[in-house]
Amino acid sequence: MKNNISPTNKERVMREDDFIVSKTDAKGRLTYCNRIFIEFSGYTEQYLLGQQHNIVRHPSMPRSVFNLLWQTIKSGDEFFGYVKNMAKDGSYYWVIANVTPSYSAGSAEIQGFFSVRRKPDPAKLKIIESIYQDMLAAEQSAGTRDAIAAGTKVLTDIIKPTGKDYREFILSL
Ligand SMILES: Cc1cc2nc3c(=O)[nH]c(=O)nc-3n(C[C@H](O)[C@H](O)[C@H](O)COP(=O)(O)O)c2cc1C
Repeated sequence: MKNNISPTNKERVMREDDFIVSKTDAKGRLTYCNRIFIEFSGYTEQYLLGQQHNIVRHPSMPRSVFNLLWQTIKSGDEFFGYVKNMAKDGSYYWVIANVTPSYSAGSAEIQGFFSVRRKPDPAKLKIIESIYQDMLAAEQSAGTRDAIAAGTKVLTDIIKPTGKDYREFILSL
């Protein structure tokens, strides 16, 4: 669902011991949100359940990050990434997210997804913010059709010289 919320410069900072947890069905619709999710997003539980997870999407997040997220989890792997989210009142909150597919017992078919988020280290966020800005700028100048390729190339060009893959790079920041 697309919303008409205008982002503000108000930041909401996670506490050291907070976990923001959510579960979705295979199509990314929310089936569970914990209390901290509800608190940070600013929506009611009743409203959240059944919504697409992009309900908290912040417009300054590069599309290519979510492309990588979905590619990774749909292929059965776990994804780690920094995400800037937007609350109902337009304020933002940064998280470091782990997203994993979940299976029903005895089945190889993905039944849904699960995400746990923690407070990111502010020093690491500085690096990520600058990378995401460059990715977003590349996406915007490439235009809709080529945005994902352009944003992904920015990220790849940063990671390649380190000799790491995306996961190792993110976890080594
Ligand atoms: C388990 C799970 C957790 C997710 N968590 C977030 C999140 O915290 N913030 C977010 O913007 N997108 C999250 N996503 C990705 C969204 O489904 C969506 O791809 C993203 O918000 C981009 O939306 P858009 O395609 O409308 O641009 C999550 C997806 C899954 C499956």
